[in-house]
Amino acid sequence: MCRHLGYLGPAVPLSSLLLDPPSGLLRQTWAPTDMRRGGTVNADGFGVGWHTPSGVVRYRRAVPMWTDTSFASLAAATSSGSVLAAARSATVGMPVVETACAPFTEGDWLFSHNGVVAGWPDSVADLASTLPAVDLMTMDAPTDSAFLWVLVRNRLRAGATLADALSSVVADVIARAPDSRLNLLLTDGRTMAATTWWHSLSVLRADDAVVIASEPGDDSPLWTPVADRMLVTATLDPHPDVRITALPEPEGHRVPPTVEIHLPADHAARALAADVRSGLAASPKSLPPKWFYDARGSELFDAITRLPEYYPTRAEAEILRAHAADIAATTGAHTLVELGSGSSEKTRLLLTALRDAGSLRSIVALDVSESALREATAALTEEYPLAEVRGVVGDFTEHLALVPGEPPRMVAFLGSTIGNLLPDERAKFLGALRGTLLPGEWLLLGTDLVKDRDTLVRAYDDGAGVTADFNRNVLRVLNRELRADFDVEAFEHVAVWDAEQEWIEMRLRSVRAQRVAIAELGMIVDFAEGEELRTETSAKFRRDGITEELATAGFTVHRWWTDAENRFALSLSRAE
Ligand code: AVJ
Repeated sequence: MCRHLGYLGPAVPLSSLLLDPPSGLLRQTWAPTDMRRGGTVNADGFGVGWHTPSGVVRYRRAVPMWTDTSFASLAAATSSGSVLAAARSATVGMPVVETACAPFTEGDWLFSHNGVVAGWPDSVADLASTLPAVDLMTMDAPTDSAFLWVLVRNRLRAGATLADALSSVVADVIARAPDSRLNLLLTDGRTMAATTWWHSLSVLRADDAVVIASEPGDDSPLWTPVADRMLVTATLDPHPDVRITALPEPEGHRVPPTVEIHLPADHAARALAADVRSGLAASPKSLPPKWFYDARGSELFDAITRLPEYYPTRAEAEILRAHAADIAATTGAHTLVELGSGSSEKTRLLLTALRDAGSLRSIVALDVSESALREATAALTEEYPLAEVRGVVGDFTEHLALVPGEPPRMVAFLGSTIGNLLPDERAKFLGALRGTLLPGEWLLLGTDLVKDRDTLVRAYDDGAGVTADFNRNVLRVLNRELRADFDVEAFEHVAVWDAEQEWIEMRLRSVRAQRVAIAELGMIVDFAEGEELRTETSAKFRRDGITEELATAGFTVHRWWTDAENRFALSLSRAE
Protein backbone atom coordinates (compact mmCIF):
# COMPACT_ATOMS: atom_id res chain seq x y z
CA MET A 1 0.00 0.00 0.00
CA CYS A 2 1.80 3.04 -1.22
CA ARG A 3 0.61 6.61 -1.22
CA HIS A 4 0.92 9.28 -3.86
CA LEU A 5 0.08 12.91 -4.46
CA GLY A 6 -0.01 15.21 -7.46
CA TYR A 7 -0.27 19.00 -7.41
CA LEU A 8 -1.01 21.55 -10.09
CA GLY A 9 -1.34 25.24 -9.17
CA PRO A 10 0.63 28.32 -8.24
CA ALA A 11 4.21 27.63 -7.11
CA VAL A 12 4.26 26.56 -3.46
CA PRO A 13 6.99 25.10 -1.23
CA LEU A 14 7.12 21.29 -1.45
CA SER A 15 6.90 21.18 2.33
CA SER A 16 3.46 22.81 2.27
CA LEU A 17 2.19 19.90 0.15
CA LEU A 18 4.06 16.99 1.67
CA LEU A 19 5.26 17.72 5.18
CA ASP A 20 2.98 20.34 6.75
CA PRO A 21 -0.56 18.99 6.20
CA PRO A 22 -1.74 17.11 9.29
CA SER A 23 -2.58 14.00 7.22
CA GLY A 24 -0.20 14.73 4.37
CA LEU A 25 2.12 12.32 2.67
CA LEU A 26 4.63 12.43 5.53
CA ARG A 27 2.06 11.35 8.08
CA GLN A 28 0.60 8.79 5.69
CA THR A 29 3.98 7.09 5.56
CA TRP A 30 3.56 5.91 9.14
CA ALA A 31 -0.15 6.30 9.88
CA PRO A 32 -2.31 5.73 6.80
CA THR A 33 -5.98 6.17 7.69
CA ASP A 34 -7.59 4.23 4.88
CA MET A 35 -7.52 0.72 6.30
CA ARG A 36 -8.55 -1.13 3.15
CA ARG A 37 -5.29 -3.07 3.20
CA GLY A 38 -4.64 -3.18 6.92
CA GLY A 39 -2.39 -0.79 8.77
CA THR A 40 0.92 -1.18 6.94
CA VAL A 41 3.32 1.73 6.92
CA ASN A 42 4.91 3.18 3.80
CA ALA A 43 8.49 3.06 4.95
CA ASP A 44 10.33 1.57 2.00
CA GLY A 45 11.31 4.82 0.43
CA PHE A 46 9.84 7.88 -1.19
CA GLY A 47 10.30 10.15 -4.15
CA VAL A 48 9.33 13.61 -5.29
CA GLY A 49 9.49 15.05 -8.79
CA TRP A 50 8.74 18.64 -9.70
CA HIS A 51 8.83 20.89 -12.70
CA THR A 52 11.22 23.84 -12.89
CA PRO A 53 11.93 26.25 -15.76
CA SER A 54 14.97 24.12 -16.57
CA GLY A 55 13.15 20.79 -16.55
CA VAL A 56 12.09 18.09 -14.13
CA VAL A 57 13.97 17.58 -10.87
CA ARG A 58 13.63 14.30 -9.05
CA TYR A 59 14.62 13.33 -5.51
CA ARG A 60 14.34 9.68 -4.43
CA ARG A 61 15.49 7.83 -1.33
CA ALA A 62 15.19 4.24 -0.16
CA VAL A 63 14.61 5.40 3.42
CA PRO A 64 11.39 6.44 5.19
CA MET A 65 10.50 10.08 4.55
CA TRP A 66 10.53 10.94 8.24
CA THR A 67 14.18 9.92 8.63
CA ASP A 68 15.42 12.23 5.87
CA THR A 69 16.02 15.57 7.57
CA SER A 70 17.87 16.93 4.55
CA PHE A 71 14.69 16.52 2.56
CA ALA A 72 12.79 18.59 5.12
CA SER A 73 15.08 21.58 4.62
CA LEU A 74 15.19 21.12 0.86
CA ALA A 75 11.39 20.90 0.70
CA ALA A 76 10.94 24.09 2.70
CA ALA A 77 13.21 26.02 0.33
CA THR A 78 11.96 24.60 -2.96
CA SER A 79 8.79 25.74 -4.69
CA SER A 80 7.01 24.43 -7.75
CA GLY A 81 3.64 24.65 -9.45
CA SER A 82 3.68 21.00 -10.54
CA VAL A 83 4.64 18.22 -8.15
CA LEU A 84 4.27 14.46 -8.05
CA ALA A 85 5.30 12.60 -4.90
CA ALA A 86 5.06 9.01 -3.71
CA ALA A 87 5.78 7.00 -0.57
CA ARG A 88 6.46 3.33 -1.05
CA SER A 89 5.60 0.17 0.80
CA ALA A 90 7.31 -2.58 -1.13
CA THR A 91 5.33 -5.69 -2.03
CA VAL A 92 6.92 -8.73 -0.39
CA GLY A 93 9.71 -10.03 -2.61
CA MET A 94 10.30 -6.72 -4.36
CA PRO A 95 13.60 -4.87 -3.88
CA VAL A 96 13.93 -1.96 -1.49
CA VAL A 97 16.09 0.37 -3.54
CA GLU A 98 15.96 3.99 -4.62
CA THR A 99 15.35 3.10 -8.25
CA ALA A 100 12.18 1.23 -7.34
CA CYS A 101 10.64 4.41 -5.87
CA ALA A 102 8.28 6.58 -7.87
CA PRO A 103 8.12 8.98 -9.51
CA PHE A 104 9.41 7.42 -12.69
CA THR A 105 10.23 10.06 -15.25
CA GLU A 106 11.20 10.88 -18.80
CA GLY A 107 11.23 14.39 -20.24
CA ASP A 108 8.34 16.26 -18.63
CA TRP A 109 6.52 13.10 -17.60
CA LEU A 110 6.30 12.02 -13.98
CA PHE A 111 4.53 8.77 -13.07
CA SER A 112 3.57 6.83 -9.96
CA HIS A 113 1.70 3.58 -9.24
CA ASN A 114 -0.14 2.93 -6.03
CA GLY A 115 -1.09 -0.75 -5.74
CA VAL A 116 0.07 -4.09 -7.04
CA VAL A 117 -0.07 -6.14 -10.24
CA ALA A 118 -1.60 -9.46 -9.16
CA GLY A 119 0.44 -12.50 -10.13
CA TRP A 120 3.41 -10.37 -11.20
CA PRO A 121 5.38 -11.07 -13.35
CA ASP A 122 3.84 -14.14 -15.01
CA SER A 123 0.32 -12.75 -15.25
CA VAL A 124 1.42 -9.91 -17.55
CA ALA A 125 4.45 -11.49 -19.21
CA ASP A 126 2.83 -11.40 -22.65
CA LEU A 127 2.53 -7.59 -22.41
CA ALA A 128 6.33 -7.43 -22.33
CA SER A 129 6.42 -8.69 -25.91
CA THR A 130 4.63 -5.49 -27.00
CA LEU A 131 7.63 -3.44 -25.80
CA PRO A 132 11.03 -2.79 -27.36
CA ALA A 133 13.61 -5.12 -25.75
CA VAL A 134 15.71 -2.09 -24.80
CA ASP A 135 12.86 -0.73 -22.67
CA LEU A 136 12.84 -3.93 -20.65
CA MET A 137 16.62 -4.09 -20.39
CA THR A 138 16.73 -0.56 -18.99
CA MET A 139 13.82 -0.71 -16.56
CA ASP A 140 14.45 1.39 -13.43
CA ALA A 141 13.85 -1.65 -11.21
CA PRO A 142 12.56 -5.21 -11.60
CA THR A 143 9.18 -4.29 -10.08
CA ASP A 144 5.55 -4.24 -11.21
CA SER A 145 5.40 -0.43 -10.88
CA ALA A 146 8.50 0.14 -13.01
CA PHE A 147 7.02 -2.20 -15.62
CA LEU A 148 3.75 -0.26 -15.63
CA TRP A 149 5.77 2.89 -16.25
CA VAL A 150 7.46 1.28 -19.25
CA LEU A 151 4.03 0.37 -20.64
CA VAL A 152 2.65 3.86 -20.04
CA ARG A 153 5.74 5.55 -21.43
CA ASN A 154 5.59 3.43 -24.57
CA ARG A 155 2.08 4.72 -25.28
CA LEU A 156 3.02 8.31 -24.44
CA ARG A 157 5.95 8.14 -26.83
CA ALA A 158 3.54 6.91 -29.50
CA GLY A 159 1.52 10.09 -29.01
CA ALA A 160 -1.24 8.96 -26.63
CA THR A 161 -2.75 11.56 -24.29
CA LEU A 162 -1.99 11.10 -20.60
CA ALA A 163 -5.55 9.89 -20.01
CA ASP A 164 -5.51 7.38 -22.86
CA ALA A 165 -2.10 6.03 -21.88
CA LEU A 166 -3.31 5.32 -18.34
CA SER A 167 -6.71 3.90 -19.20
CA SER A 168 -5.37 1.59 -21.90
CA VAL A 169 -2.69 0.23 -19.56
CA VAL A 170 -5.30 -0.36 -16.84
CA ALA A 171 -7.53 -2.21 -19.30
CA ASP A 172 -4.67 -4.40 -20.56
CA VAL A 173 -3.39 -5.28 -17.10
CA ILE A 174 -6.83 -5.94 -15.59
CA ALA A 175 -7.72 -8.22 -18.50
CA ARG A 176 -4.75 -10.41 -17.48
CA ALA A 177 -4.51 -9.81 -13.75
CA PRO A 178 -8.03 -8.95 -12.60
CA ASP A 179 -7.21 -8.72 -8.90
CA SER A 180 -4.64 -5.96 -9.43
CA ARG A 181 -4.83 -2.61 -7.71
CA LEU A 182 -3.99 0.08 -10.22
CA ASN A 183 -4.09 3.62 -8.93
CA LEU A 184 -1.88 5.36 -11.48
CA LEU A 185 -0.87 9.03 -11.42
CA LEU A 186 0.79 10.88 -14.28
CA THR A 187 1.62 14.51 -15.07
CA ASP A 188 3.50 16.48 -17.69
CA GLY A 189 3.41 19.73 -15.72
CA ARG A 190 0.28 21.01 -17.46
CA THR A 191 -2.17 18.12 -17.11
CA MET A 192 -2.56 15.47 -14.44
CA ALA A 193 -4.26 12.13 -15.03
CA ALA A 194 -5.06 9.48 -12.43
CA THR A 195 -6.91 6.19 -12.24
CA THR A 196 -8.65 4.44 -9.38
CA TRP A 197 -8.75 0.69 -9.50
CA TRP A 198 -9.44 -0.86 -6.13
CA HIS A 199 -7.64 1.76 -4.06
CA SER A 200 -8.49 5.06 -2.39
CA LEU A 201 -8.08 8.46 -4.04
CA SER A 202 -9.33 11.97 -3.27
CA VAL A 203 -9.30 15.22 -5.19
CA LEU A 204 -9.04 18.72 -3.78
CA ARG A 205 -10.32 21.37 -6.14
CA ALA A 206 -9.37 24.85 -4.90
CA ASP A 207 -9.86 28.13 -6.71
CA ASP A 208 -6.48 28.06 -8.43
CA ALA A 209 -5.08 24.60 -7.68
CA VAL A 210 -5.81 20.88 -7.79
CA VAL A 211 -4.43 18.15 -5.57
CA ILE A 212 -4.97 14.47 -6.32
CA ALA A 213 -3.93 12.24 -3.42
CA SER A 214 -4.39 8.77 -1.97
CA GLU A 215 -5.89 10.40 1.12
CA PRO A 216 -7.06 13.91 1.97
CA GLY A 217 -4.15 15.81 3.51
CA ASP A 218 -6.36 17.76 5.90
CA ASP A 219 -10.00 18.13 6.82
CA SER A 220 -10.74 20.80 4.22
CA PRO A 221 -14.29 20.37 2.86
CA LEU A 222 -12.86 20.84 -0.66
CA TRP A 223 -11.65 17.22 -0.69
CA THR A 224 -13.93 14.75 -2.44
CA PRO A 225 -13.34 11.02 -2.62
CA VAL A 226 -13.09 9.48 -6.09
CA ALA A 227 -15.14 6.33 -6.66
CA ASP A 228 -13.47 3.13 -7.74
CA ARG A 229 -12.68 2.44 -11.42
CA MET A 230 -12.51 6.09 -12.45
CA LEU A 231 -10.24 8.18 -14.62
CA VAL A 232 -9.46 11.68 -13.35
CA THR A 233 -7.98 14.39 -15.53
CA ALA A 234 -7.10 17.85 -14.27
CA THR A 235 -5.83 20.94 -16.05
CA LEU A 236 -5.40 24.59 -15.08
CA ASP A 237 -6.24 27.39 -17.43
CA PRO A 238 -5.98 29.13 -15.05
CA HIS A 239 -8.86 27.71 -13.05
CA PRO A 240 -8.91 24.01 -12.35
CA ASP A 241 -10.89 21.84 -14.72
CA VAL A 242 -11.30 18.39 -13.21
CA ARG A 243 -13.09 15.61 -15.05
CA ILE A 244 -13.94 12.23 -13.62
CA THR A 245 -15.19 9.51 -15.95
CA ALA A 246 -15.64 5.77 -15.61
CA LEU A 247 -12.82 3.59 -16.89
CA PRO A 248 -14.00 1.08 -19.49
CA GLU A 249 -14.84 -2.36 -18.06
CA PRO A 250 -12.48 -4.98 -19.43
CA GLU A 251 -14.25 -7.82 -21.18
CA GLY A 252 -15.59 -10.45 -18.81
CA HIS A 253 -14.09 -8.70 -15.82
CA ARG A 254 -15.42 -9.37 -12.36
CA VAL A 255 -15.07 -6.58 -9.89
CA PRO A 256 -13.33 -7.99 -6.83
CA PRO A 257 -15.25 -7.37 -3.62
CA THR A 258 -13.89 -4.85 -1.18
CA VAL A 259 -14.15 -5.09 2.57
CA GLU A 260 -13.77 -1.83 4.44
CA ILE A 261 -12.94 -1.94 8.10
CA HIS A 262 -14.34 0.75 10.31
CA LEU A 263 -13.65 -0.89 13.62
CA PRO A 264 -10.31 -0.83 15.38
CA ALA A 265 -8.81 -4.31 15.68
CA ASP A 266 -9.59 -4.48 19.40
CA HIS A 267 -13.14 -3.13 19.10
CA ALA A 268 -14.86 -6.44 19.87
CA ALA A 269 -12.60 -7.24 22.81
CA ARG A 270 -13.18 -3.83 24.38
CA ALA A 271 -16.91 -3.90 23.78
CA LEU A 272 -17.21 -7.38 25.29
CA ALA A 273 -15.23 -6.36 28.36
CA ALA A 274 -17.38 -3.24 28.84
CA ASP A 275 -20.64 -5.16 28.40
CA VAL A 276 -19.60 -7.88 30.84
CA ARG A 277 -18.34 -5.39 33.42
CA SER A 278 -21.57 -3.44 33.48
CA GLY A 279 -24.00 -6.28 32.77
CA LEU A 280 -22.77 -8.69 35.43
CA ALA A 281 -22.41 -6.00 38.08
CA ALA A 282 -26.01 -4.86 37.53
CA SER A 283 -29.07 -6.19 39.27
CA PRO A 284 -30.74 -8.01 37.66
CA LYS A 285 -27.77 -9.29 35.68
CA SER A 286 -27.86 -9.11 31.90
CA LEU A 287 -25.71 -9.50 28.79
CA PRO A 288 -26.46 -8.25 25.27
CA PRO A 289 -27.38 -10.98 22.77
CA LYS A 290 -24.68 -10.10 20.25
CA TRP A 291 -22.13 -12.17 22.20
CA PHE A 292 -23.86 -15.46 21.30
CA TYR A 293 -22.41 -15.37 17.83
CA ASP A 294 -18.92 -16.83 17.75
CA ALA A 295 -18.39 -19.56 15.14
CA ARG A 296 -20.22 -22.15 17.25
CA GLY A 297 -22.98 -19.69 18.17
CA SER A 298 -23.53 -18.83 14.52
CA GLU A 299 -23.79 -22.51 13.68
CA LEU A 300 -26.26 -23.05 16.50
CA PHE A 301 -28.36 -20.12 15.29
CA ASP A 302 -28.32 -21.64 11.84
CA ALA A 303 -29.60 -24.87 13.34
CA ILE A 304 -32.32 -22.91 15.16
CA THR A 305 -33.60 -21.50 11.87
CA ARG A 306 -34.27 -25.07 10.71
CA LEU A 307 -36.09 -26.20 13.87
CA PRO A 308 -39.78 -27.06 13.45
CA GLU A 309 -40.64 -24.70 16.35
CA TYR A 310 -38.69 -21.71 15.02
CA TYR A 311 -41.02 -20.34 12.35
CA PRO A 312 -39.67 -16.75 11.74
CA THR A 313 -36.99 -17.63 9.17
CA ARG A 314 -39.32 -19.78 7.07
CA ALA A 315 -42.20 -17.33 7.35
CA GLU A 316 -40.03 -14.43 6.21
CA ALA A 317 -38.58 -16.44 3.31
CA GLU A 318 -42.13 -17.32 2.26
CA ILE A 319 -43.02 -13.61 2.13
CA LEU A 320 -39.89 -12.79 0.18
CA ARG A 321 -40.49 -15.55 -2.35
CA ALA A 322 -43.98 -14.18 -2.94
CA HIS A 323 -43.10 -10.48 -3.12
CA ALA A 324 -39.45 -9.99 -4.09
CA ALA A 325 -40.41 -9.05 -7.65
CA ASP A 326 -42.89 -6.48 -6.33
CA ILE A 327 -40.22 -5.09 -3.98
CA ALA A 328 -37.78 -4.73 -6.87
CA ALA A 329 -40.36 -3.06 -9.12
CA THR A 330 -41.56 -0.68 -6.38
CA THR A 331 -38.11 0.45 -5.27
CA GLY A 332 -36.08 0.26 -8.48
CA ALA A 333 -33.16 0.09 -6.05
CA HIS A 334 -29.66 0.35 -7.50
CA THR A 335 -28.06 -0.71 -4.24
CA LEU A 336 -29.12 -3.35 -1.75
CA VAL A 337 -27.66 -2.66 1.66
CA GLU A 338 -28.00 -5.57 4.00
CA LEU A 339 -27.53 -5.06 7.71
CA GLY A 340 -25.97 -8.46 8.22
CA SER A 341 -23.37 -10.44 6.31
CA GLY A 342 -25.44 -10.92 3.16
CA SER A 343 -25.04 -14.67 3.15
CA SER A 344 -28.65 -15.78 3.58
CA GLU A 345 -31.00 -17.30 1.07
CA LYS A 346 -33.34 -14.37 1.76
CA THR A 347 -30.76 -11.84 0.57
CA ARG A 348 -30.39 -13.82 -2.64
CA LEU A 349 -34.13 -13.74 -3.27
CA LEU A 350 -33.95 -9.94 -3.14
CA LEU A 351 -30.78 -9.64 -5.19
CA THR A 352 -32.06 -11.94 -7.90
CA ALA A 353 -35.29 -9.92 -8.14
CA LEU A 354 -33.35 -6.65 -8.39
CA ARG A 355 -31.03 -8.12 -10.99
CA ASP A 356 -33.94 -9.46 -13.04
CA ALA A 357 -35.59 -6.04 -12.83
CA GLY A 358 -32.37 -4.59 -14.27
CA SER A 359 -31.74 -2.12 -11.46
CA LEU A 360 -29.04 -3.86 -9.38
CA ARG A 361 -25.68 -2.04 -9.48
CA SER A 362 -24.13 -2.57 -6.10
CA ILE A 363 -24.42 -4.71 -3.00
CA VAL A 364 -23.32 -3.59 0.44
CA ALA A 365 -23.23 -5.79 3.51
CA LEU A 366 -22.58 -4.36 6.96
CA ASP A 367 -21.58 -6.81 9.64
CA VAL A 368 -19.33 -6.94 12.69
CA SER A 369 -17.63 -10.10 11.51
CA GLU A 370 -14.85 -9.54 8.98
CA SER A 371 -14.54 -13.26 8.23
CA ALA A 372 -18.27 -13.64 7.58
CA LEU A 373 -18.13 -10.62 5.26
CA ARG A 374 -15.11 -11.89 3.35
CA GLU A 375 -16.85 -15.18 2.72
CA ALA A 376 -20.20 -13.65 1.83
CA THR A 377 -18.82 -10.90 -0.45
CA ALA A 378 -16.70 -13.41 -2.36
CA ALA A 379 -19.76 -15.61 -2.93
CA LEU A 380 -21.92 -12.63 -3.93
CA THR A 381 -19.32 -11.50 -6.47
CA GLU A 382 -19.49 -14.94 -8.07
CA GLU A 383 -23.26 -14.96 -8.18
CA TYR A 384 -23.86 -11.33 -9.21
CA PRO A 385 -20.81 -10.57 -11.36
CA LEU A 386 -22.20 -7.34 -12.73
CA ALA A 387 -22.72 -5.74 -9.32
CA GLU A 388 -20.07 -4.02 -7.26
CA VAL A 389 -19.86 -5.85 -3.93
CA ARG A 390 -18.68 -4.10 -0.80
CA GLY A 391 -18.44 -5.32 2.73
CA VAL A 392 -18.32 -2.86 5.58
CA VAL A 393 -17.08 -4.16 8.92
CA GLY A 394 -19.04 -2.20 11.45
CA ASP A 395 -21.81 -2.19 14.02
CA PHE A 396 -25.25 -1.28 12.69
CA THR A 397 -25.98 0.71 15.83
CA GLU A 398 -22.90 2.90 15.29
CA HIS A 399 -21.67 2.87 11.69
CA LEU A 400 -24.71 3.51 9.53
CA ALA A 401 -23.35 6.82 8.31
CA LEU A 402 -20.65 4.92 6.44
CA VAL A 403 -23.01 2.90 4.26
CA PRO A 404 -21.95 3.56 0.66
CA GLY A 405 -23.68 2.67 -2.60
CA GLU A 406 -25.42 4.33 -5.47
CA PRO A 407 -28.91 5.71 -4.71
CA PRO A 408 -31.67 4.77 -4.62
CA ARG A 409 -30.66 2.31 -1.94
CA MET A 410 -32.80 -0.22 -0.16
CA VAL A 411 -31.68 -1.17 3.32
CA ALA A 412 -32.79 -4.66 4.26
CA PHE A 413 -32.95 -5.43 7.96
CA LEU A 414 -34.37 -8.91 8.08
CA GLY A 415 -35.01 -11.73 10.52
CA SER A 416 -36.62 -9.50 13.15
CA THR A 417 -33.15 -8.67 14.41
CA ILE A 418 -34.61 -5.26 15.25
CA GLY A 419 -36.43 -7.13 18.03
CA ASN A 420 -33.14 -7.37 19.91
CA LEU A 421 -33.22 -3.61 20.45
CA LEU A 422 -35.18 -2.18 23.38
CA PRO A 423 -37.78 0.47 22.47
CA ASP A 424 -35.53 3.48 23.11
CA GLU A 425 -32.64 1.82 21.26
CA ARG A 426 -35.03 1.12 18.40
CA ALA A 427 -36.06 4.76 18.16
CA LYS A 428 -32.43 5.82 18.11
CA PHE A 429 -31.51 3.23 15.49
CA LEU A 430 -34.42 4.06 13.17
CA GLY A 431 -33.70 7.78 13.50
CA ALA A 432 -30.04 7.25 12.63
CA LEU A 433 -30.96 5.04 9.70
CA ARG A 434 -33.40 7.62 8.39
CA GLY A 435 -30.64 10.23 8.75
CA THR A 436 -28.30 8.32 6.45
CA LEU A 437 -30.91 7.81 3.72
CA LEU A 438 -32.02 10.29 1.12
CA PRO A 439 -35.71 11.04 0.71
CA GLY A 440 -37.17 8.36 -1.53
CA GLU A 441 -34.79 5.60 -0.43
CA TRP A 442 -36.16 2.44 1.20
CA LEU A 443 -36.17 0.30 4.31
CA LEU A 444 -37.28 -3.33 4.09
CA LEU A 445 -37.89 -4.47 7.64
CA GLY A 446 -38.68 -7.96 8.93
CA THR A 447 -40.67 -8.09 12.18
CA ASP A 448 -41.98 -11.07 14.08
CA LEU A 449 -45.57 -10.53 15.20
CA VAL A 450 -47.27 -10.81 18.59
CA LYS A 451 -49.11 -14.13 18.84
CA ASP A 452 -50.17 -16.72 21.38
CA ARG A 453 -47.77 -17.42 24.20
CA ASP A 454 -47.33 -21.12 23.44
CA THR A 455 -46.14 -20.65 19.88
CA LEU A 456 -43.75 -17.94 20.99
CA VAL A 457 -42.27 -19.78 23.94
CA ARG A 458 -41.85 -22.98 21.93
CA ALA A 459 -39.91 -21.03 19.28
CA TYR A 460 -37.40 -20.07 21.99
CA ASP A 461 -37.44 -23.33 23.94
CA ASP A 462 -37.35 -26.11 21.40
CA GLY A 463 -37.70 -29.79 22.15
CA ALA A 464 -34.24 -30.70 20.87
CA GLY A 465 -32.56 -28.20 23.20
CA VAL A 466 -30.75 -26.34 20.43
CA THR A 467 -31.86 -22.93 21.72
CA ALA A 468 -30.75 -23.90 25.22
CA ASP A 469 -27.31 -24.75 23.87
CA PHE A 470 -27.24 -21.48 21.90
CA ASN A 471 -28.17 -19.55 25.04
CA ARG A 472 -25.43 -21.18 27.13
CA ASN A 473 -22.93 -20.49 24.37
CA VAL A 474 -22.52 -16.94 25.64
CA LEU A 475 -20.92 -18.42 28.77
CA ARG A 476 -18.44 -20.37 26.63
CA VAL A 477 -17.60 -17.14 24.84
CA LEU A 478 -16.87 -15.46 28.20
CA ASN A 479 -14.82 -18.45 29.36
CA ARG A 480 -12.67 -18.29 26.25
CA GLU A 481 -12.40 -14.56 25.60
CA LEU A 482 -12.19 -13.32 29.19
CA ARG A 483 -10.74 -16.39 30.91
CA ALA A 484 -13.87 -16.84 32.98
CA ASP A 485 -14.71 -20.09 34.75
CA PHE A 486 -18.46 -20.47 34.24
CA ASP A 487 -19.67 -24.01 34.80
CA VAL A 488 -21.80 -23.91 31.67
CA GLU A 489 -23.92 -26.90 32.73
CA ALA A 490 -24.83 -25.22 36.00
CA PHE A 491 -27.10 -22.79 34.15
CA GLU A 492 -30.56 -23.65 32.83
CA HIS A 493 -32.15 -22.20 29.76
CA VAL A 494 -35.29 -20.15 30.41
CA ALA A 495 -37.58 -18.54 27.83
CA VAL A 496 -40.45 -16.37 29.08
CA TRP A 497 -43.06 -14.30 27.31
CA ASP A 498 -43.49 -10.87 28.87
CA ALA A 499 -47.06 -10.08 27.88
CA GLU A 500 -46.78 -6.53 29.15
CA GLN A 501 -43.70 -5.52 27.13
CA GLU A 502 -44.55 -7.96 24.37
CA TRP A 503 -41.15 -9.50 24.20
CA ILE A 504 -39.55 -12.88 24.74
CA GLU A 505 -36.79 -12.94 27.30
CA MET A 506 -34.12 -15.58 27.30
CA ARG A 507 -32.37 -16.08 30.58
CA LEU A 508 -29.82 -18.40 32.14
CA ARG A 509 -30.83 -19.60 35.61
CA SER A 510 -28.14 -20.58 38.08
CA VAL A 511 -29.07 -24.04 39.38
CA ARG A 512 -27.13 -23.45 42.63
CA ALA A 513 -25.37 -20.72 44.51
CA GLN A 514 -22.04 -20.28 42.80
CA ARG A 515 -19.13 -17.93 42.39
CA VAL A 516 -17.58 -17.20 39.01
CA ALA A 517 -14.19 -15.59 38.41
CA ILE A 518 -13.53 -13.60 35.26
CA ALA A 519 -9.75 -13.51 35.22
CA GLU A 520 -9.25 -11.09 32.37
CA LEU A 521 -11.38 -8.46 34.13
CA GLY A 522 -10.26 -9.29 37.69
CA MET A 523 -13.94 -9.71 38.47
CA ILE A 524 -15.77 -12.06 40.86
CA VAL A 525 -19.47 -12.60 40.28
CA ASP A 526 -21.79 -14.38 42.71
CA PHE A 527 -24.99 -16.09 41.62
CA ALA A 528 -27.66 -17.04 44.15
CA GLU A 529 -29.49 -20.34 43.64
CA GLY A 530 -32.20 -19.67 41.03
CA GLU A 531 -30.80 -16.25 40.11
CA GLU A 532 -31.36 -15.38 36.46
CA LEU A 533 -29.08 -13.66 33.98
CA ARG A 534 -30.95 -12.08 31.06
CA THR A 535 -29.24 -12.84 27.76
CA GLU A 536 -31.72 -11.67 25.14
CA THR A 537 -34.93 -9.77 24.60
CA SER A 538 -36.68 -10.48 21.33
CA ALA A 539 -39.53 -8.02 20.85
CA LYS A 540 -42.65 -8.97 18.91
CA PHE A 541 -44.55 -6.36 16.94
CA ARG A 542 -48.02 -5.24 15.92
CA ARG A 543 -48.73 -3.47 12.67
CA ASP A 544 -49.92 -0.23 14.31
CA GLY A 545 -47.05 -0.03 16.74
CA ILE A 546 -44.21 -0.49 14.26
CA THR A 547 -45.93 1.76 11.69
CA GLU A 548 -45.97 4.49 14.30
CA GLU A 549 -42.34 3.90 15.32
CA LEU A 550 -41.34 4.12 11.67
CA ALA A 551 -43.37 7.30 11.18
CA THR A 552 -41.72 8.92 14.19
CA ALA A 553 -38.35 8.21 12.59
CA GLY A 554 -39.43 9.66 9.23
CA PHE A 555 -40.48 6.56 7.30
CA THR A 556 -43.85 5.89 5.65
CA VAL A 557 -44.91 2.27 5.38
CA HIS A 558 -45.76 1.66 1.71
CA ARG A 559 -46.36 -2.09 1.76
CA TRP A 560 -47.09 -4.59 4.49
CA TRP A 561 -47.02 -8.30 3.80
CA THR A 562 -47.42 -11.28 6.11
CA ASP A 563 -47.03 -15.01 5.65
CA ALA A 564 -50.13 -17.17 5.13
CA GLU A 565 -50.43 -17.82 8.88
CA ASN A 566 -49.94 -14.17 9.88
CA ARG A 567 -46.96 -14.93 12.05
CA PHE A 568 -44.37 -12.61 10.55
CA ALA A 569 -44.46 -9.31 8.66
CA LEU A 570 -42.29 -7.64 6.11
CA SER A 571 -42.77 -3.91 5.65
CA LEU A 572 -41.41 -1.72 2.90
CA SER A 573 -41.04 1.89 4.01
CA ARG A 574 -39.97 5.00 2.19
CA ALA A 575 -37.70 7.62 3.73
CA GLU A 576 -39.59 10.93 3.63
C1 AVJ B 1 -31.65 -13.31 15.30
C2 AVJ B 1 -32.43 -11.92 17.05
C3 AVJ B 1 -33.87 -12.51 15.28
O1 AVJ B 1 -34.69 -13.15 18.41
O2 AVJ B 1 -35.55 -14.69 17.16
C4 AVJ B 1 -33.32 -17.15 18.04
C5 AVJ B 1 -32.27 -14.80 17.80
N1 AVJ B 1 -32.62 -16.21 19.84
N2 AVJ B 1 -33.56 -17.97 19.09
C6 AVJ B 1 -34.61 -14.02 17.53
C7 AVJ B 1 -32.74 -16.04 18.53
C8 AVJ B 1 -33.11 -17.40 20.16
C9 AVJ B 1 -33.27 -14.25 16.84
N3 AVJ B 1 -32.79 -13.00 16.14
